[in-house]
Amino acid sequence: MANASADPRLMGREVKRIVFSEQDIADRVAALGREIAHAYPDGELLALGLLKGSFMFTADLVRHIPRPLQVDFIVAGSYGSGTVSSGNVRLLYDPETNMEGKHVLLVEDIVDSGRTMQKLVDLLETRRPRSLQICALLHKHIAEHLEHPVRFVGFDAPNEFLVGYGLDHAENFRHVPYIASLA
Ligand code: IMP
Ligand code: MG
Repeated sequence: MANASADPRLMGREVKRIVFSEQDIADRVAALGREIAHAYPDGELLALGLLKGSFMFTADLVRHIPRPLQVDFIVAGSYGSGTVSSGNVRLLYDPETNMEGKHVLLVEDIVDSGRTMQKLVDLLETRRPRSLQICALLHKHIAEHLEHPVRFVGFDAPNEFLVGYGLDHAENFRHVPYIASLA
């Protein structure tokens, strides 16, 4: 899409620029899939998408991982009130899939502070997976120190507010097929 301002999906919002085009995303997701398949030569693999932001990425990514795997999703929420992450995460939807003995790959849309993801990893580790790794489409590299580093990264992201390809602003723009920076 050459002219994002003319895109009816954007409800008239100004887009500063397209940061990653549909083609950029398609190419990188395909490469990531091959990288992931290579990293798991054996064992059972469970791709666990963190909703809602990773719904599109997870759907595309698993189609590019040429090995047997299972797909499930988790929905996480924070304890306490307010929009600021309280640092305590809980699962609003708990996967039915048993994780014990499996390679679990947590699929995230974007790592910003990384707080949610770190807590989630602590929680999922109690399910005794064979391994637990994180795959994030975007990484802002803001967090100084992540106790659980991100094993697979799609793109290094600029420190701007991004929408599209699953990422929202007030629940809008998740269906935009490219990633744009809001003006
Ligand atoms: P963290 O816990 O600070 O890493 O926050 C991660 C979550 O915040 C992501 O899963 C997104 O839902 C949201 N988020 C962070 N940065 C952006 C952005 O640029 N656009 C849209 N959502 C974002
Ligand atoms: Mg969000």
